Amino acid sequence: MLWECVSILAFAGISVILILEVFRRPKNFPPGPSRIWSTMAQFKKNPLGALMLCKEKYGPVVGLKIGEFRVVILNDPADITKAFGNKSLNSRPPFLPAMIYVGGENHGTLTSSDEVWKAVRNCMVKSMGSLHTSPINGEASLTLSHDMEPLKELLERLSNPVSKEKLSLAELRSKLYIPIANHVWHVLTGEEIPEENKAGLQQQLVALQKALWQPISSPVWFLPTSAKRLPSTRTLLQEIKKAVDPLHAMVEEMVQETQKNGDDDSKTFSQAFLRGCRSYPCLRGYEAVHLKGAFFTLWHTAAETVGNLMAWTILWLSLYPEVQRKLAQELGQTDILDLMSLPYARAVIQEVLRLSSTAPFANFHWSVEDYKLGNGMVIPKGTVVIGNLFGVHHDPSVWPDVEVFRPERFLENEGGEENRAKVLLPFSAGLRTCPGQNFARNFILYALSQVLKDFQFSWDPQQARPTPEEIMDKSLVSIFRFVPDFKIVVRKREE
Ligand code: HEM
Repeated sequence: MLWECVSILAFAGISVILILEVFRRPKNFPPGPSRIWSTMAQFKKNPLGALMLCKEKYGPVVGLKIGEFRVVILNDPADITKAFGNKSLNSRPPFLPAMIYVGGENHGTLTSSDEVWKAVRNCMVKSMGSLHTSPINGEASLTLSHDMEPLKELLERLSNPVSKEKLSLAELRSKLYIPIANHVWHVLTGEEIPEENKAGLQQQLVALQKALWQPISSPVWFLPTSAKRLPSTRTLLQEIKKAVDPLHAMVEEMVQETQKNGDDDSKTFSQAFLRGCRSYPCLRGYEAVHLKGAFFTLWHTAAETVGNLMAWTILWLSLYPEVQRKLAQELGQTDILDLMSLPYARAVIQEVLRLSSTAPFANFHWSVEDYKLGNGMVIPKGTVVIGNLFGVHHDPSVWPDVEVFRPERFLENEGGEENRAKVLLPFSAGLRTCPGQNFARNFILYALSQVLKDFQFSWDPQQARPTPEEIMDKSLVSIFRFVPDFKIVVRKREE
């Protein structure tokens, strides 16, 4: 009898919770799974696969709840482009890790919104002209080739025929931290990071990598600001803060130096940025805060994303030797200044960006007003909006042989870049699209031209080739999708 009563009460309780859950969906909110979905083992184990299943089941726009947040996932490239071009969807959610990462709310571009974001973004883009140029131009290129030496030494050692050691893709990624960080620092400030500081900086970047990039299923990403006092989350957030503080201190020092020296000649990014801030009343008095935020995001994002992309590139090239051969040949025959005009090399980068989808969810957006979608559905004010870029790049109805690495699909005779641009959104779309995309493409081409002329990379013949599922399983999916730490064989390139 007692058992029966308990069962009935439990059943009634669960029913009430489920009914409430259903009724809590706002009117015209897109269809999708209930909040329970967020804790499903599937999402924890394979978040990108779970997103694909959701797309299959609920269609191009999916609505759900994760933690305290209402979330809408846009799966269609046209919806993403249109929605992210609308100012009601161009703010950022109040996520704690992002604020700690940048140093506060409304600092720089990453966490700022509305009028402040627009002003900071304008100042940033205008001041970063030099970042759009190829890394091989100018004085900064000398810094870069010098900083690439440790990577080349590692490749030299591994390529010795008696060496049984292989190249760890995680190590490759981490070896690129200093070349990229120093190069960007040089381009932005006109100065190099002192040689004696580089080893310490390398350790700080690795520490931040470990603390910050929690899996996307971790509750840390969807914490409301009110949760910051919970002991379990406090520890995670403190770890991020401890890791990011020394990097902020470095940028802070540079900002103070720039302010002290004045911005009259606007020769560097920092000077130009401070000067640019004067044209925007909403930035006055906060110039230093925004320079710090903008500089830190550009600098650290570059170090984190570009090394990762390079490691993914080496993975695909080692799995597809014929592509590697053609690419090495094209790069080898070209003057270094013409790298960006090479059709095959450009196609390779596009295909790496597609298949790797290293920023699989764009960066979370936040609606500041209700937004009506074409089909009558509504994204209510105060919703996290995710662009499912991974899904866009892995849609078999758009990309034949979707899991095959085939740069030829981006060549002119197969529809060309222009058509593909509508469905290839690795840097997202709309108003907040990535300001570092040319820099990323340039850097990868430069780095490839440096390493492919001397070395070749191949999959270890003693290991089974990884299936797409294994690659999916082994890549850490956080805000970025990190390369799986496979071990690659390196040999000297034969003429
Ligand atoms: C593999 C390379 C990269 C990828 C795949 C990538 C991708 C992205 C994506 C998807 C976004 C979000 C756009 C949105 O909110 O809709 C973004 C934003 C951003 N990226 Fe990149 N990025 C890369 C490299 C870089 C580099 C090299 C830099 C700096 C030099 C950079 C700086 C930024 C900044 C500052 C933002 C925030 C823009 C804003 O909120 O206004 N990124 N990136």
